[in-house]
Amino acid sequence: MSGKLWGGRFTGATDPRMEAFNASIAFDRRLWQVDIRGSQAYARALAQAGILAPEEAEAIVRGLDRVAQEWQEGRFVLQPGDEDIHTANERRLTELIGPVAGKLHTGRSRNDQVATDLRLWLREAIDRLQEHLYRLLATAADRAEAEIHVLMPGYTHLQPAQPVRWSHWLLSHAWAWQRDAQRLQEVRRRVDVLPLGSGALAGNPFPIDREFLARELGFQALSPNSMDAVSDRDFVVEFLQWAGLTQLHLSRWAEDLILYSTREFGFVTLADAYSTGSSLMPQKKNPDSLELIRGKSGRVLGHALGLGILLKALPSTYNKDLQEDKEPLFDAVDTLEGSLTIALGVLSTLTLHPERMAQALVPEMLATDLAEYLVGKGVPFREAHHITGAAVRLAEEQGIPLSELSVEMLQQLHPAFQEDVAQLWSYEASVERRDLPGGTSRRAVQAQIRALRAFLRQGA
Ligand code: ARG
Repeated sequence: MSGKLWGGRFTGATDPRMEAFNASIAFDRRLWQVDIRGSQAYARALAQAGILAPEEAEAIVRGLDRVAQEWQEGRFVLQPGDEDIHTANERRLTELIGPVAGKLHTGRSRNDQVATDLRLWLREAIDRLQEHLYRLLATAADRAEAEIHVLMPGYTHLQPAQPVRWSHWLLSHAWAWQRDAQRLQEVRRRVDVLPLGSGALAGNPFPIDREFLARELGFQALSPNSMDAVSDRDFVVEFLQWAGLTQLHLSRWAEDLILYSTREFGFVTLADAYSTGSSLMPQKKNPDSLELIRGKSGRVLGHALGLGILLKALPSTYNKDLQEDKEPLFDAVDTLEGSLTIALGVLSTLTLHPERMAQALVPEMLATDLAEYLVGKGVPFREAHHITGAAVRLAEEQGIPLSELSVEMLQQLHPAFQEDVAQLWSYEASVERRDLPGGTSRRAVQAQIRALRAFLRQGA
Protein backbone atom coordinates (compact mmCIF):
# COMPACT_ATOMS: atom_id res chain seq x y z
CA MET A 1 0.00 0.00 0.00
CA SER A 2 1.30 3.41 -0.95
CA GLY A 3 1.68 5.86 1.92
CA LYS A 4 -0.30 8.46 0.02
CA LEU A 5 -3.77 9.47 1.19
CA TRP A 6 -4.94 8.82 -2.34
CA GLY A 7 -2.62 5.94 -3.21
CA GLY A 8 -5.21 3.13 -3.59
CA ARG A 9 -5.90 3.35 -7.30
CA PHE A 10 -2.32 4.01 -8.32
CA THR A 11 0.23 1.42 -9.37
CA GLY A 12 3.09 3.41 -10.86
CA ALA A 13 5.36 5.56 -8.75
CA THR A 14 5.21 9.35 -8.89
CA ASP A 15 8.08 11.13 -10.60
CA PRO A 16 9.98 12.65 -7.68
CA ARG A 17 9.96 15.98 -9.47
CA MET A 18 6.19 15.75 -9.72
CA GLU A 19 6.07 14.96 -6.04
CA ALA A 20 8.02 18.11 -5.24
CA PHE A 21 5.94 20.16 -7.66
CA ASN A 22 2.71 18.90 -6.13
CA ALA A 23 3.70 19.47 -2.53
CA SER A 24 2.51 22.43 -0.50
CA ILE A 25 3.96 21.40 2.85
CA ALA A 26 6.79 23.93 2.56
CA PHE A 27 4.28 26.72 3.01
CA ASP A 28 1.04 25.21 4.32
CA ARG A 29 2.81 23.83 7.41
CA ARG A 30 1.82 27.19 8.87
CA LEU A 31 -1.68 25.75 9.09
CA TRP A 32 -0.64 22.98 11.51
CA GLN A 33 -2.51 24.37 14.47
CA VAL A 34 -5.80 25.15 12.76
CA ASP A 35 -5.61 21.83 10.93
CA ILE A 36 -5.40 20.00 14.22
CA ARG A 37 -8.16 22.08 15.78
CA GLY A 38 -10.42 21.33 12.81
CA SER A 39 -9.67 17.61 13.02
CA GLN A 40 -10.37 17.47 16.73
CA ALA A 41 -13.74 19.12 16.24
CA TYR A 42 -14.45 16.75 13.39
CA ALA A 43 -13.55 13.69 15.51
CA ARG A 44 -16.03 14.85 18.15
CA ALA A 45 -18.70 15.36 15.51
CA LEU A 46 -18.05 11.83 14.19
CA ALA A 47 -18.48 10.47 17.70
CA GLN A 48 -21.75 12.33 18.13
CA ALA A 49 -22.91 10.88 14.84
CA GLY A 50 -22.07 7.38 16.08
CA ILE A 51 -19.34 6.85 13.49
CA LEU A 52 -16.64 6.75 16.14
CA ALA A 53 -16.92 5.06 19.52
CA PRO A 54 -16.36 7.60 22.30
CA GLU A 55 -13.00 6.04 23.17
CA GLU A 56 -11.93 6.13 19.52
CA ALA A 57 -12.72 9.83 19.32
CA GLU A 58 -10.89 10.33 22.59
CA ALA A 59 -7.81 8.52 21.23
CA ILE A 60 -7.85 10.69 18.11
CA VAL A 61 -8.26 13.95 20.04
CA ARG A 62 -5.46 13.03 22.43
CA GLY A 63 -3.24 11.81 19.61
CA LEU A 64 -3.76 15.11 17.82
CA ASP A 65 -2.79 16.92 21.01
CA ARG A 66 0.49 15.05 20.88
CA VAL A 67 1.00 15.95 17.22
CA ALA A 68 0.34 19.58 18.14
CA GLN A 69 2.89 19.37 20.90
CA GLU A 70 5.51 18.11 18.47
CA TRP A 71 4.85 21.07 16.18
CA GLN A 72 4.83 23.44 19.12
CA GLU A 73 8.18 22.22 20.35
CA GLY A 74 9.75 22.02 16.91
CA ARG A 75 9.99 18.23 17.16
CA PHE A 76 7.66 17.36 14.29
CA VAL A 77 9.72 15.53 11.69
CA LEU A 78 8.47 15.81 8.14
CA GLN A 79 8.67 12.69 6.00
CA PRO A 80 9.27 12.62 2.25
CA GLY A 81 5.65 11.64 1.54
CA ASP A 82 4.17 14.53 3.55
CA GLU A 83 2.54 16.27 0.61
CA ASP A 84 0.71 18.87 2.64
CA ILE A 85 -0.14 19.70 6.24
CA HIS A 86 -3.27 17.54 6.19
CA THR A 87 -1.30 14.51 5.03
CA ALA A 88 1.52 15.16 7.48
CA ASN A 89 -0.75 15.45 10.51
CA GLU A 90 -2.75 12.35 9.62
CA ARG A 91 0.41 10.37 8.91
CA ARG A 92 1.85 11.27 12.27
CA LEU A 93 -1.42 10.58 14.07
CA THR A 94 -1.47 7.10 12.54
CA GLU A 95 2.07 6.48 13.78
CA LEU A 96 1.10 7.57 17.26
CA ILE A 97 -2.26 5.87 17.74
CA GLY A 98 -2.45 3.20 15.06
CA PRO A 99 -5.18 2.28 12.57
CA VAL A 100 -8.03 4.01 14.45
CA ALA A 101 -6.56 7.25 13.01
CA GLY A 102 -7.86 6.01 9.67
CA LYS A 103 -11.43 6.72 10.83
CA LEU A 104 -10.86 10.45 11.21
CA HIS A 105 -11.28 11.32 7.56
CA THR A 106 -14.72 9.62 7.28
CA GLY A 107 -16.95 11.82 5.15
CA ARG A 108 -14.34 14.54 5.01
CA SER A 109 -12.20 15.61 2.08
CA ARG A 110 -9.11 17.73 2.02
CA ASN A 111 -11.27 20.07 -0.01
CA ASP A 112 -13.56 21.01 2.87
CA GLN A 113 -10.65 20.57 5.28
CA VAL A 114 -8.33 23.04 3.61
CA ALA A 115 -11.10 25.61 3.17
CA THR A 116 -11.87 25.28 6.89
CA ASP A 117 -8.22 25.55 7.87
CA LEU A 118 -7.67 28.62 5.77
CA ARG A 119 -10.70 30.39 7.20
CA LEU A 120 -9.64 29.57 10.75
CA TRP A 121 -6.13 30.80 10.08
CA LEU A 122 -7.23 33.98 8.34
CA ARG A 123 -9.73 34.84 11.07
CA GLU A 124 -6.90 34.87 13.59
CA ALA A 125 -4.66 36.87 11.28
CA ILE A 126 -7.45 39.40 10.80
CA ASP A 127 -7.83 39.81 14.54
CA ARG A 128 -4.11 40.49 14.88
CA LEU A 129 -4.14 42.98 12.02
CA GLN A 130 -7.18 44.70 13.49
CA GLU A 131 -5.22 45.16 16.74
CA HIS A 132 -2.28 46.67 14.83
CA LEU A 133 -4.61 49.12 13.12
CA TYR A 134 -6.27 50.10 16.38
CA ARG A 135 -2.91 50.79 17.96
CA LEU A 136 -1.84 52.91 15.00
CA LEU A 137 -5.11 54.85 15.15
CA ALA A 138 -4.83 55.37 18.89
CA THR A 139 -1.30 56.70 18.46
CA ALA A 140 -2.39 59.03 15.67
CA ALA A 141 -5.19 60.35 17.88
CA ASP A 142 -2.79 60.89 20.79
CA ARG A 143 -0.24 62.75 18.68
CA ALA A 144 -2.95 64.79 17.01
CA GLU A 145 -4.17 65.88 20.42
CA ALA A 146 -0.76 66.61 21.91
CA GLU A 147 0.46 68.56 18.87
CA ILE A 148 -2.74 70.33 17.90
CA HIS A 149 -1.04 73.74 18.16
CA VAL A 150 1.50 72.95 15.42
CA LEU A 151 0.77 74.60 12.06
CA MET A 152 2.22 73.57 8.72
CA PRO A 153 1.65 74.27 5.05
CA GLY A 154 -1.00 72.15 3.38
CA TYR A 155 -0.23 71.22 -0.22
CA THR A 156 -2.17 70.55 -3.38
CA HIS A 157 -0.21 69.50 -6.47
CA LEU A 158 2.70 69.55 -4.00
CA GLN A 159 2.51 73.34 -4.15
CA PRO A 160 2.04 75.32 -0.91
CA ALA A 161 -1.71 75.91 -0.68
CA GLN A 162 -3.15 76.88 2.70
CA PRO A 163 -2.07 76.54 6.33
CA VAL A 164 -3.36 73.52 8.23
CA ARG A 165 -2.77 71.97 11.60
CA TRP A 166 -0.16 69.19 11.65
CA SER A 167 -2.83 67.18 13.46
CA HIS A 168 -5.22 67.70 10.60
CA TRP A 169 -2.67 66.25 8.18
CA LEU A 170 -2.01 63.29 10.44
CA LEU A 171 -5.70 62.62 10.91
CA SER A 172 -6.25 62.79 7.17
CA HIS A 173 -4.26 59.55 6.99
CA ALA A 174 -5.82 58.16 10.15
CA TRP A 175 -9.28 58.36 8.57
CA ALA A 176 -8.07 56.20 5.70
CA TRP A 177 -6.81 53.70 8.28
CA GLN A 178 -10.11 53.92 10.10
CA ARG A 179 -11.93 52.91 6.93
CA ASP A 180 -9.43 50.06 6.57
CA ALA A 181 -10.30 48.91 10.08
CA GLN A 182 -13.99 49.11 9.28
CA ARG A 183 -13.55 47.26 6.02
CA LEU A 184 -11.58 44.54 7.74
CA GLN A 185 -14.46 43.94 10.15
CA GLU A 186 -16.72 43.49 7.14
CA VAL A 187 -14.32 41.08 5.42
CA ARG A 188 -14.10 39.10 8.65
CA ARG A 189 -17.83 38.38 8.61
CA ARG A 190 -17.46 36.59 5.30
CA VAL A 191 -14.38 34.70 6.44
CA ASP A 192 -16.28 33.48 9.47
CA VAL A 193 -18.22 30.72 7.67
CA LEU A 194 -17.74 26.98 8.18
CA PRO A 195 -17.17 24.82 5.05
CA LEU A 196 -16.54 21.56 6.98
CA GLY A 197 -19.24 18.98 6.29
CA SER A 198 -19.21 19.67 2.57
CA GLY A 199 -17.05 16.67 1.67
CA ALA A 200 -15.19 16.77 -1.62
CA LEU A 201 -18.02 18.69 -3.30
CA ALA A 202 -21.27 16.79 -2.81
CA GLY A 203 -21.76 17.01 0.93
CA ASN A 204 -21.40 14.51 3.72
CA PRO A 205 -23.55 11.35 3.95
CA PHE A 206 -23.00 10.84 7.68
CA PRO A 207 -25.25 12.51 10.26
CA ILE A 208 -22.63 15.10 11.20
CA ASP A 209 -23.98 18.05 13.20
CA ARG A 210 -22.58 21.03 11.31
CA GLU A 211 -24.04 23.46 13.84
CA PHE A 212 -22.01 21.67 16.50
CA LEU A 213 -18.87 21.94 14.32
CA ALA A 214 -19.48 25.65 13.84
CA ARG A 215 -19.84 26.18 17.58
CA GLU A 216 -16.72 24.11 18.33
CA LEU A 217 -14.65 26.12 15.85
CA GLY A 218 -16.29 29.46 16.63
CA PHE A 219 -17.82 30.06 13.20
CA GLN A 220 -20.80 32.39 12.90
CA ALA A 221 -22.41 30.65 9.93
CA LEU A 222 -22.49 27.46 7.85
CA SER A 223 -21.63 27.49 4.17
CA PRO A 224 -24.99 27.04 2.43
CA ASN A 225 -23.86 24.94 -0.54
CA SER A 226 -21.23 22.20 -0.55
CA MET A 227 -20.01 22.92 -4.08
CA ASP A 228 -19.63 26.61 -3.29
CA ALA A 229 -17.98 25.78 0.03
CA VAL A 230 -15.01 23.99 -1.56
CA SER A 231 -14.85 26.36 -4.51
CA ASP A 232 -15.10 29.70 -2.78
CA ARG A 233 -11.96 31.74 -2.26
CA ASP A 234 -13.77 35.07 -2.39
CA PHE A 235 -12.83 35.57 1.23
CA VAL A 236 -9.14 35.40 0.25
CA VAL A 237 -9.67 37.78 -2.68
CA GLU A 238 -11.51 40.22 -0.45
CA PHE A 239 -8.82 40.02 2.16
CA LEU A 240 -6.05 40.57 -0.41
CA GLN A 241 -7.90 43.54 -1.85
CA TRP A 242 -8.26 44.90 1.65
CA ALA A 243 -4.55 44.31 2.23
CA GLY A 244 -3.62 46.03 -1.04
CA LEU A 245 -5.69 49.08 -0.23
CA THR A 246 -4.40 49.27 3.34
CA GLN A 247 -0.80 48.99 2.19
CA LEU A 248 -1.54 51.64 -0.42
CA HIS A 249 -2.80 53.95 2.34
CA LEU A 250 0.34 53.31 4.34
CA SER A 251 2.42 54.10 1.25
CA ARG A 252 0.79 57.50 0.81
CA TRP A 253 1.39 58.37 4.44
CA ALA A 254 4.99 57.14 4.14
CA GLU A 255 5.55 59.21 1.01
CA ASP A 256 4.44 62.41 2.76
CA LEU A 257 6.77 61.74 5.65
CA ILE A 258 9.68 60.86 3.35
CA LEU A 259 9.21 64.24 1.74
CA TYR A 260 8.77 66.08 5.04
CA SER A 261 11.94 64.48 6.40
CA THR A 262 14.14 65.74 3.55
CA ARG A 263 16.59 68.54 4.28
CA GLU A 264 14.57 70.75 1.94
CA PHE A 265 11.42 70.43 4.04
CA GLY A 266 12.90 69.53 7.41
CA PHE A 267 9.47 69.28 9.07
CA VAL A 268 10.18 65.96 10.80
CA THR A 269 13.09 63.76 11.80
CA LEU A 270 12.79 60.01 11.87
CA ALA A 271 14.18 58.27 14.93
CA ASP A 272 17.49 56.52 14.38
CA ALA A 273 15.67 53.30 15.21
CA TYR A 274 13.81 53.54 11.91
CA SER A 275 16.52 54.99 9.70
CA THR A 276 19.56 53.48 8.06
CA GLY A 277 22.83 54.82 6.74
CA SER A 278 24.63 54.69 3.44
CA SER A 279 27.59 52.37 2.89
CA LEU A 280 29.31 55.12 0.92
CA MET A 281 28.15 58.53 2.11
CA PRO A 282 28.78 58.96 5.83
CA GLN A 283 26.36 61.87 6.23
CA LYS A 284 23.33 59.96 4.93
CA LYS A 285 20.37 59.04 7.08
CA ASN A 286 17.77 57.34 4.96
CA PRO A 287 14.08 56.72 5.69
CA ASP A 288 14.29 53.04 4.65
CA SER A 289 11.45 52.11 6.98
CA LEU A 290 9.04 54.35 5.10
CA GLU A 291 10.47 53.50 1.70
CA LEU A 292 9.91 49.80 2.36
CA ILE A 293 6.36 50.43 3.52
CA ARG A 294 5.83 52.37 0.30
CA GLY A 295 7.56 49.74 -1.83
CA LYS A 296 5.69 46.78 -0.39
CA SER A 297 2.38 48.15 -1.60
CA GLY A 298 3.26 46.96 -5.11
CA ARG A 299 3.60 43.38 -4.08
CA VAL A 300 0.46 43.27 -1.97
CA LEU A 301 -1.65 44.86 -4.70
CA GLY A 302 -0.05 42.31 -7.03
CA HIS A 303 -1.22 39.42 -4.85
CA ALA A 304 -4.82 40.62 -5.06
CA LEU A 305 -4.63 40.81 -8.83
CA GLY A 306 -2.80 37.47 -9.06
CA LEU A 307 -5.47 35.58 -7.16
CA GLY A 308 -8.20 37.23 -9.22
CA ILE A 309 -6.49 35.97 -12.36
CA LEU A 310 -6.09 32.50 -10.84
CA LEU A 311 -9.81 32.26 -10.09
CA LYS A 312 -11.03 33.72 -13.35
CA ALA A 313 -12.85 31.00 -15.36
CA LEU A 314 -11.72 28.28 -12.95
CA PRO A 315 -14.18 25.37 -13.21
CA SER A 316 -16.59 24.69 -10.36
CA THR A 317 -15.52 23.33 -6.98
CA TYR A 318 -11.98 22.31 -6.09
CA ASN A 319 -9.15 22.42 -8.58
CA LYS A 320 -5.52 22.12 -7.59
CA ASP A 321 -4.98 25.66 -8.80
CA LEU A 322 -6.50 26.63 -5.46
CA GLN A 323 -3.40 25.44 -3.66
CA GLU A 324 -1.83 28.61 -5.06
CA ASP A 325 -4.05 30.75 -2.80
CA LYS A 326 -1.83 30.30 0.23
CA GLU A 327 1.50 31.87 -0.55
CA PRO A 328 0.05 35.26 -1.55
CA LEU A 329 -2.26 35.16 1.45
CA PHE A 330 0.52 34.36 3.90
CA ASP A 331 2.80 36.91 2.32
CA ALA A 332 0.13 39.61 2.44
CA VAL A 333 -0.53 38.95 6.12
CA ASP A 334 3.20 38.99 6.93
CA THR A 335 3.75 42.14 4.89
CA LEU A 336 0.86 43.98 6.50
CA GLU A 337 1.86 42.91 10.01
CA GLY A 338 5.42 44.03 9.37
CA SER A 339 4.40 47.31 7.80
CA LEU A 340 1.87 48.18 10.50
CA THR A 341 4.39 47.38 13.22
CA ILE A 342 7.03 49.60 11.63
CA ALA A 343 4.51 52.35 10.86
CA LEU A 344 3.56 52.44 14.53
CA GLY A 345 7.24 52.59 15.49
CA VAL A 346 7.91 55.45 13.09
CA LEU A 347 4.84 57.40 14.14
CA SER A 348 5.42 57.10 17.85
CA THR A 349 9.10 58.13 17.68
CA LEU A 350 8.96 60.86 15.03
CA THR A 351 10.33 64.29 16.05
CA LEU A 352 8.52 67.36 14.76
CA HIS A 353 10.18 70.67 13.90
CA PRO A 354 7.35 73.17 14.30
CA GLU A 355 9.73 76.08 13.68
CA ARG A 356 10.64 74.68 10.25
CA MET A 357 6.97 74.23 9.47
CA ALA A 358 6.33 77.81 10.59
CA GLN A 359 9.15 79.08 8.34
CA ALA A 360 7.55 77.32 5.40
CA LEU A 361 4.32 79.24 5.94
CA VAL A 362 4.36 82.29 3.68
CA PRO A 363 1.80 85.14 3.50
CA GLU A 364 0.84 84.13 -0.05
CA MET A 365 -0.78 81.07 1.52
CA LEU A 366 -3.30 83.52 2.98
CA ALA A 367 -4.29 84.91 -0.43
CA THR A 368 -7.55 82.95 -0.18
CA ASP A 369 -8.17 84.54 3.22
CA LEU A 370 -7.59 87.95 1.64
CA ALA A 371 -10.26 87.21 -0.97
CA GLU A 372 -12.56 85.98 1.80
CA TYR A 373 -11.90 89.25 3.67
CA LEU A 374 -13.33 91.11 0.68
CA VAL A 375 -16.29 88.73 0.61
CA GLY A 376 -16.88 89.81 4.20
CA LYS A 377 -17.04 93.39 2.93
CA GLY A 378 -19.73 92.45 0.43
CA VAL A 379 -17.56 91.89 -2.66
CA PRO A 380 -18.73 88.92 -4.78
CA PHE A 381 -16.20 86.08 -4.45
CA ARG A 382 -15.37 85.93 -8.17
CA GLU A 383 -14.44 89.61 -8.11
CA ALA A 384 -12.61 89.24 -4.79
CA HIS A 385 -10.56 86.39 -6.25
CA HIS A 386 -9.58 88.59 -9.19
CA ILE A 387 -8.62 91.55 -7.00
CA THR A 388 -6.57 89.34 -4.71
CA GLY A 389 -4.78 87.94 -7.75
CA ALA A 390 -3.88 91.51 -8.68
CA ALA A 391 -2.60 92.08 -5.13
CA VAL A 392 -0.38 88.98 -5.38
CA ARG A 393 1.01 90.29 -8.67
CA LEU A 394 1.58 93.75 -7.20
CA ALA A 395 3.50 92.33 -4.23
CA GLU A 396 5.59 90.26 -6.61
CA GLU A 397 6.38 93.34 -8.69
CA GLN A 398 7.30 95.28 -5.58
CA GLY A 399 9.43 92.37 -4.37
CA ILE A 400 7.63 92.25 -1.02
CA PRO A 401 5.48 89.65 0.73
CA LEU A 402 1.74 89.94 0.18
CA SER A 403 1.30 90.94 3.82
CA GLU A 404 3.54 93.99 3.36
CA LEU A 405 1.25 95.75 0.90
CA SER A 406 0.02 98.90 2.59
CA VAL A 407 -3.67 99.60 3.05
CA GLU A 408 -3.29 102.46 0.56
CA MET A 409 -1.87 100.15 -2.06
CA LEU A 410 -4.66 97.66 -1.45
CA GLN A 411 -7.26 100.43 -1.63
CA GLN A 412 -5.96 101.28 -5.10
CA LEU A 413 -7.10 97.80 -6.04
CA HIS A 414 -10.46 98.03 -4.27
CA PRO A 415 -11.99 100.59 -1.87
CA ALA A 416 -13.39 97.84 0.36
CA PHE A 417 -9.96 97.28 1.95
CA GLN A 418 -9.75 98.91 5.39
CA GLU A 419 -7.27 99.15 8.28
CA ASP A 420 -8.56 95.89 9.78
CA VAL A 421 -6.94 93.98 6.91
CA ALA A 422 -3.74 94.07 8.98
CA GLN A 423 -5.29 91.53 11.36
CA LEU A 424 -5.61 89.05 8.55
CA TRP A 425 -1.98 87.92 8.47
CA SER A 426 -2.23 85.27 11.14
CA TYR A 427 -1.92 81.61 10.18
CA GLU A 428 -3.56 80.63 13.42
CA ALA A 429 -6.56 82.85 12.65
CA SER A 430 -6.73 81.32 9.20
CA VAL A 431 -6.99 77.74 10.41
CA GLU A 432 -9.41 78.85 13.15
CA ARG A 433 -11.76 80.39 10.59
CA ARG A 434 -12.26 76.93 9.08
CA ASP A 435 -14.50 75.78 11.87
CA LEU A 436 -17.07 73.61 10.11
CA PRO A 437 -17.08 69.88 10.90
CA GLY A 438 -14.05 68.42 9.11
CA GLY A 439 -12.20 71.75 9.15
CA THR A 440 -8.85 72.85 10.52
CA SER A 441 -9.94 74.80 13.61
CA ARG A 442 -8.90 73.48 16.98
CA ARG A 443 -12.50 72.68 17.78
CA ALA A 444 -13.05 70.82 14.51
CA VAL A 445 -9.84 68.81 14.90
CA GLN A 446 -10.71 67.97 18.49
CA ALA A 447 -14.07 66.68 17.26
CA GLN A 448 -12.21 64.40 14.82
CA ILE A 449 -10.07 63.05 17.63
CA ARG A 450 -13.19 62.34 19.69
CA ALA A 451 -14.87 60.60 16.77
CA LEU A 452 -11.81 58.45 16.14
CA ARG A 453 -11.62 57.46 19.78
CA ALA A 454 -15.33 56.66 19.83
CA PHE A 455 -14.72 54.36 16.86
CA LEU A 456 -11.85 52.68 18.72
CA ARG A 457 -14.02 52.14 21.78
CA GLN A 458 -16.83 50.45 19.88
CA GLY A 459 -14.61 48.66 17.42
CA ALA A 460 -11.93 47.39 19.76
N1 ARG B 1 -2.80 21.01 -0.41
C1 ARG B 1 -4.09 21.17 -0.98
C2 ARG B 1 -4.42 22.67 -1.11
O1 ARG B 1 -3.75 23.40 -0.49
C3 ARG B 1 -5.11 20.51 -0.13
C4 ARG B 1 -6.34 20.12 -0.85
C5 ARG B 1 -6.04 19.01 -1.77
N2 ARG B 1 -7.22 18.50 -2.36
C6 ARG B 1 -7.19 17.73 -3.44
N3 ARG B 1 -8.32 17.33 -3.92
N4 ARG B 1 -6.07 17.40 -3.99
O2 ARG B 1 -5.31 23.07 -1.81
